[in-house]
Amino acid sequence: MSKTIKPLRPASPNPGFGAEITGIDPRAINDAGFEAIRQAWIAHQVLLFRGQSLSDHDLIAFSRRFGALDHAPVQENGQRFVHGLPEIYIVSNVVEDGVAIGSLGAGEAAWHSDMSYLAEPPKASMLYALEIPPSGGHTSFCDMYAAFDSLPDSLRARAIGRRVKHDGTYNSGGYIRQGVTPSDDPREAPGTLHPLVCTHPESGRRTLYLGRRRMAWIEGMDLPESEAFLDQLWAYATAPALCFTHRWRVGDLVLWDNRCTMHRRDPFDASARRIMHRTQIKGAAPPAA
Ligand code: OGA
Ligand code: MN
Repeated sequence: MSKTIKPLRPASPNPGFGAEITGIDPRAINDAGFEAIRQAWIAHQVLLFRGQSLSDHDLIAFSRRFGALDHAPVQENGQRFVHGLPEIYIVSNVVEDGVAIGSLGAGEAAWHSDMSYLAEPPKASMLYALEIPPSGGHTSFCDMYAAFDSLPDSLRARAIGRRVKHDGTYNSGGYIRQGVTPSDDPREAPGTLHPLVCTHPESGRRTLYLGRRRMAWIEGMDLPESEAFLDQLWAYATAPALCFTHRWRVGDLVLWDNRCTMHRRDPFDASARRIMHRTQIKGAAPPAA
């Protein structure tokens, strides 16, 4: 079995974004094999490994090669997702015996990078598909290096040196975080300020860091100015030409870099089942460009 790295969309306007790795078993890679994967991940931002069969322990062990793991956000009912494995986050609409086994449901999920409300957000997330609905539920990714590069000079100059508030009202599932009093004024809402333009610590490239649109605020701007500026930035960040959509198969494992990508999920039929297990790899405070 020899390893290959091939772009997911070689003919797209953004061919370097996303790659599939074939011919490796994440449960049995040596240090040299791992280093090649790590470099491919830094170069391509999103990696796909198809046809895997991983237990939660395998998923955790492979994820740990990239660094220590964050615990998953606590579920809206205050419970952990998998007893004894706080690293595992379950993304699912499945309800068993009246209890949701995961977060995110079946509705549309808005563009975001994971857990950006933390001072030190996870640098990466790994998502593994266990059950997939017959249609819908695809996940799209956008390239935040390309987004930064596509900004007109005037917007770029306005963005550099600014900080943006990443709302801390809601968790990744869209539920109010424990102990938080919601406010509908983004200036007053709880959250974390991060540089709007960051330097990726491993690639050295500049990237836009937006996190989520809801309740975001550009520090120092009045609300209408901040809203208008954010709307402009978001339009560049999510321009379809620079994004791609991954159509899941059972056994797909996708690793993305939260520092230079965002993702979103399409809705799917709520009567169909979708079960994904995720880990999140610890990161550092995003450094300003
Ligand atoms: C995630 C996430 C979307 C999806 O796991 O962080 O946003 O398609 N998932 O399941
Ligand atoms: Mn996510």
